[in-house]
Amino acid sequence: MMFVVYMGCILLLLYYLYQKTYSYWSSRGVPFDKPFLIFGSFFDVATRKKHIFHVIRDIYDKFDTPYVGIYILNQPTLMVRSPELLKKILVKDFDKFVNRKVAVNESVDPIAAHTLFTAKDQMWRGLRAKISPVFTSGKMKLMVPLMKQCAEDLNAYLDQRAGETLEFRNVTKKYTVDIISSCAFGVSSYCLKDDNSEIMQVATKLLDLKSFVRSFSIFCFFFMPKLVDIFRLTLLDKVASDHFIKMFKSTIAERQNKNIVRNDLIDQLNNLKDNEKFTDEYKFDDIKMAAQALEFFAAGNDTTSLTISFALYELALNPTIQDRLRQELKETFAKHGDFTYDAIYEMKYLDMVVNETLRMYPLTTFLNRSTTTKYTFEETGFTLDEDVSILVPVAGLHFDAEYFPDPEKYDPERFSEENKNKIQPYTYLPFGDGPRNCIGQRFGLLVTKMALAYTVKDFAFERTAATAVPLGLDPASLFLENKTGLHMKVVKVKQ
Ligand code: HEM
Repeated sequence: MMFVVYMGCILLLLYYLYQKTYSYWSSRGVPFDKPFLIFGSFFDVATRKKHIFHVIRDIYDKFDTPYVGIYILNQPTLMVRSPELLKKILVKDFDKFVNRKVAVNESVDPIAAHTLFTAKDQMWRGLRAKISPVFTSGKMKLMVPLMKQCAEDLNAYLDQRAGETLEFRNVTKKYTVDIISSCAFGVSSYCLKDDNSEIMQVATKLLDLKSFVRSFSIFCFFFMPKLVDIFRLTLLDKVASDHFIKMFKSTIAERQNKNIVRNDLIDQLNNLKDNEKFTDEYKFDDIKMAAQALEFFAAGNDTTSLTISFALYELALNPTIQDRLRQELKETFAKHGDFTYDAIYEMKYLDMVVNETLRMYPLTTFLNRSTTTKYTFEETGFTLDEDVSILVPVAGLHFDAEYFPDPEKYDPERFSEENKNKIQPYTYLPFGDGPRNCIGQRFGLLVTKMALAYTVKDFAFERTAATAVPLGLDPASLFLENKTGLHMKVVKVKQ
């Protein structure tokens, strides 16, 4: 009898907690996705039943309202579906949505606190204004010779393995680690030449999403900021970060002692520091500069290497598209004698292939902002409280048949000169949008295009029994990754 009473009390308590925690949206008359106790809308993500990419698409597809209330654990979050409202959040009224809702604690994690991704308000503005000149097209052009060296190494790597079936996430990661080590740290990591490269191991450790500690830390930074303070968590692995900071400092010292100029990211950061004015809002010291280089590594490495491997995967599944791309690459190479910066940007079909790859594989799946003050949507009259998290469902928008007909089809034609202007603004967001979009977009696109140019011209990528079709995302991964990897056969093509 007492057992029944106890159980009854526990159930009542759970019901009370559920109502108290999850009445935020219903009490404000906002349509909402029915939450699970403790996990809110992300039960399937927490129990690893579904990848977050599919959960976002499912919620997006279930509603046709401009926005939907969801709960990430117990945190009320507004998923905004309407492109018109997204324009306001990302661009027009950006001042009211400057920050991402992520934890920052300078005393625990000084590196993360000085990165663009986590920085807030005035500090973000000062830092962004300072770093933006590093990524102009002029600066990118100067880095092409460094990138070309790594792209040629990638070509040589494939040449030695022609006829074999390779796992491409691993291959393209070696290439991007080589490029970012060279451009942001001024060192050659030789990942493509040496299977035991020390930098490859450290780079993998830096943001190793297969490690429980790292995944837990990242989850807390986004969704349970109090635990960041309690457990003194860092966003990036501490040992790997220290290794890179040491490397960064020694390169800076060497460049100053020997007057070396390479026109890479490290030179650009150093120039910014040397030309600082008294009036600059944000001033560099060694740690703050190293934090930028580390962020370039963390934000630019997996995103770019996965984009390249997904492009090769889709080319293997779509040989006609692959042949057309190779034709363009050969003609352009013959015209310019090399893949120069201008040659890369002249290739329209290459651009279409990369854009469609980023539509089908938007690596971050969602964008995040939060309200800096109360905000009223004029269209509906609904007022959002201060400090409410906003989720932009990139995965949902990219697969909405209204914006991208037959969305499961890989079709670069969507981005042809004629068609791309018909794409509704704020429905295609692989790099985000507005003043807080991806600062490394030009760098990431150039590195991706160089890799495709130097490989697809000389090699065919073929589907084999080992190629995962359908892809089947791994629910445990934060980025878009499948469990078995991306296997394709490499075949040398006749010149
Ligand atoms: C294909 C490659 C890449 C993709 C798909 C990608 C995607 C993104 C996305 C979606 C965001 C969030 C934008 C927003 O909230 O509106 C972002 C932010 C950012 N990305 Fe990238 N990225 C890529 C490559 C890079 C590279 C190569 C770098 C650096 C070298 C980089 C550095 C950053 C930084 C620093 C931010 C934070 C910007 C801020 O808050 O001001 N990314 N990226």
